[in-house]
Amino acid sequence: HAENLPTSPLLGFKGVKASIADDVVVAQGYKSEVLISWGDPLVDSASAFDPNGGNSAADQEKQFGDNNDGMSFFPIDDNHGVIAINNEYVNEQYLFSHGGSKATSLEDVRKSQAAHGVSIVAVKRIGESQRWQVERPSRYNRRITANSEMQVSGPAAGHPLLQTAADPSGRKVLGTINNCANGKTPWGTYLTCEENFETYFGTQHADYKTTPEQQRYGLNAREPERNWSTFDDRFDVAKNPNELNRFGWIVEIDPMNPQAMPVKHTALGRFKHENAAVTVAKNGRLVVYMGDDERGEHIYKYVSKNKVDPINPANNHNLLDEGTLYVAQFNADVNGVPLRGTGRWIALEFGKNGLTPENGFRDPAEVLIFARKAASQVGATKMDRPEWIAVNPHDGRPYCTLTNNNKRGEAGMPMNAANPRPNNIYGQIIRWDEGGDATAEQFTWDIYLLAGNPIAYPEGINRGTPNITVDNTFNSPDGLAFDAAGRLWILTDGKYSNEGDYQGQGNNQMLVGDPNSGEIRRFMVGPKSCELTGITFTPDYKTMFVNVQHPGEEGDSHFPSNSPRPRSSVIMITREDGGIIGG
Ligand code: FEO
Ligand code: CA
Ligand code: CA
Ligand code: CA
Repeated sequence: HAENLPTSPLLGFKGVKASIADDVVVAQGYKSEVLISWGDPLVDSASAFDPNGGNSAADQEKQFGDNNDGMSFFPIDDNHGVIAINNEYVNEQYLFSHGGSKATSLEDVRKSQAAHGVSIVAVKRIGESQRWQVERPSRYNRRITANSEMQVSGPAAGHPLLQTAADPSGRKVLGTINNCANGKTPWGTYLTCEENFETYFGTQHADYKTTPEQQRYGLNAREPERNWSTFDDRFDVAKNPNELNRFGWIVEIDPMNPQAMPVKHTALGRFKHENAAVTVAKNGRLVVYMGDDERGEHIYKYVSKNKVDPINPANNHNLLDEGTLYVAQFNADVNGVPLRGTGRWIALEFGKNGLTPENGFRDPAEVLIFARKAASQVGATKMDRPEWIAVNPHDGRPYCTLTNNNKRGEAGMPMNAANPRPNNIYGQIIRWDEGGDATAEQFTWDIYLLAGNPIAYPEGINRGTPNITVDNTFNSPDGLAFDAAGRLWILTDGKYSNEGDYQGQGNNQMLVGDPNSGEIRRFMVGPKSCELTGITFTPDYKTMFVNVQHPGEEGDSHFPSNSPRPRSSVIMITREDGGIIGG
């Protein structure tokens, strides 16, 4: 088979082989090193990391959080910057000294809460090199956790469904949780996206009945995945039913102002937010593309009412509070051509498209609080777990990873043109074209790649599209980003058994795609049982940061540096010749 022929001018490196090593592997001519790991001291007077889980909740509040995910680099000058980094969740067996998979005390819960949220990390260049290091102390370094105060803005702020005994205003929430991926605004703020927020809520009340709305958001009150509600009443849905409604939002953080309070923007809708792909339309309006990561959920788009003010950034803060939320419908090609079609964006506006009191929506805020219900009401397409969206800077076309869906083809989840594969264990990347106008309500779409495994399946739909080869095979595309040159960086969060359906795919990995030719080449492989996720660059694209998340979640890793307990870490990648990453 043809191996890594230099066909695409965008892909300037030799592909790496699949790996099952407990280490980071990067393309020849590149260097990878750890920038910061879970538990590293971040702010003044922080305790040193205890590799056996002995740090307290108070220690963790001053240390780098766990399970680093989406992140954005904010330059200060050529030699200084700030990276805002999500800390999505924790691996309890490594976080707690007792090594168990559940919190067993309020102290455990507080430590877990302190390891969640966002870490703001100042960095400085090392000499004249492309290498950077954490700057400490720095006035920018801070932790935002599951207990940090934040405000609520937009149409649902103050709504009765957001009011609690502790906050009758419905406008002051404590904390952000399950911060998955991210976005960056044109005015220099960071967007962090709350994903699987319901897993923190539960109750010991045996007769508690979940509402249809809670069920639609996946709440399993009797068997919550994370045991916070047993020790912290705020997460007990029987005692504080509205607290659940205060999560599942996109939160804006100003990384340059350590005093600025984070803001939850309700106009962007409430669902299991993956990331926020921000772009400015030709007519000046702000557009945010968003995925809701659960099997059969939807893709959304937000369009601001007003235009971005490039002169006075202070005028832009309402752009995320006043606008229209849309949801996507993907339809088949009129001539029946597979893997392409047409689509439309349907407005989720109170009083329109059946979003009326007769159908259970009492006011505009309820359409946003229960955006999933509204999306179903208007006939949105059920997708194969929409994860990251990235916009090609050269032609404005958004790409979205549909990571996998092993329920596709079952009852209630029939195949459709955009999600064409039953028992879809490999996933696909879909892209759409709005004719150069990001505010358009119509689009065409096609499948950029249908992932697959030509080793396990030389033929058939599980082989994948022709741009999948025995040399680049992978499953479950998740993280996604374009660089300035137009390279599409694809990060995976999939099965790493390296057997059967997944033979020859090795550990989770990062690949680069040429959006025009479709060629895809493997650039990096992570250590054992990690996910690679989160990607950002310095403005010159000569330094890349990428996250190794939950290495050794299967108990099989000592990453990094032979650590007694494995640690999620931010990895810095540079080129030995100092050139542009991937070029
Ligand atoms: Fe946090 Fe859908 O990944
Ligand atoms: Ca993800
Ligand atoms: Ca994923
Ligand atoms: Ca993850």
